[in-house]
Amino acid sequence: MTTLHDKVPAGLDRKEAEAYRRLDLERLPRHIAIIMDGNGRWAKRRHMPRVAGHRAGVTAVRSTVETAARIHIPALTLYAFSEENWKRPASEVGFLMGLLSRYLKAEVPTLNKNNIRLEYIGRQQELPPDVQERMEWARQATAHNTGMVLTLALNYSARSELVDAFRSMLHAAAQNGGVEHLEIDEAAVSRHLYTRNLPDPDLVVRTSGEMRLSNFLLWQLAYAEIYVTPTLWPDFRGVHLLEGIAEYQKRERRYGGLNHNDHHASKNATTEDAEDTEEVIPS
Ligand code: FPP
Repeated sequence: MTTLHDKVPAGLDRKEAEAYRRLDLERLPRHIAIIMDGNGRWAKRRHMPRVAGHRAGVTAVRSTVETAARIHIPALTLYAFSEENWKRPASEVGFLMGLLSRYLKAEVPTLNKNNIRLEYIGRQQELPPDVQERMEWARQATAHNTGMVLTLALNYSARSELVDAFRSMLHAAAQNGGVEHLEIDEAAVSRHLYTRNLPDPDLVVRTSGEMRLSNFLLWQLAYAEIYVTPTLWPDFRGVHLLEGIAEYQKRERRYGGLNHNDHHASKNATTEDAEDTEEVIPS
């Protein structure tokens, strides 16, 4: 465990610094994905329109992104607009698109200051043209940065991503001698996903207490630790991210295997042990 915690990164506030000191810096997640939920409930509790919750959500985005970058998380992915979100009233969708556009315009200097590179996942080509232009502008304006990759999932659906990956595999095969040469394995699927340049998330955070993945990164989250917090997204800050990382570090990741002690016990088990087991477990 790294003990150089007196070296707290610049820019963390007092609470963040306290939470940071409790982390094992050698086991920080390489990629954190966040399902930002609860904007509507936040607004409702205050007798405000839903869009006020989205507006307040931008403050949470800022705080979370900056803290993640300051503690050197290599990749952060935020679920900002799902394919399913088109079902909301046109006025709310329009508000979200405008908010995103304004966020991108306003945020580029801060992203550059924090060495953050912006990327997107989702069917961008179906977003309003002016939003697409702004997205491309912000992507290019941060393309030179070498620190954290901030990926915004926009018009994103994990099932559509898989459909697009299969189509892309077929297209590539057609160009390389035909489908009879197509070899499909897990690595091939991963290479055709929108996230082909990112490691799979180690940690997925969902705010506002819901226990669902909501069609987010279904392939990539296969082994991720899930951290659900009751905090509504507009109240979420960098310190909550650090609490989520601390919780993640308490978990034991086995990827379907056994922990060290159980592995040892299993290797030393005798045939008699197995026969004993057969007696107590009805077939
Ligand atoms: C879910 O809350 C949130 C969204 C659908 C949109 C997320 C958008 C933001 C956080 C603001 C802008 C983002 C960026 C990247 C600038 P909900 O409306 O489903 O909440 P509810 O479940 O309480 O109704």
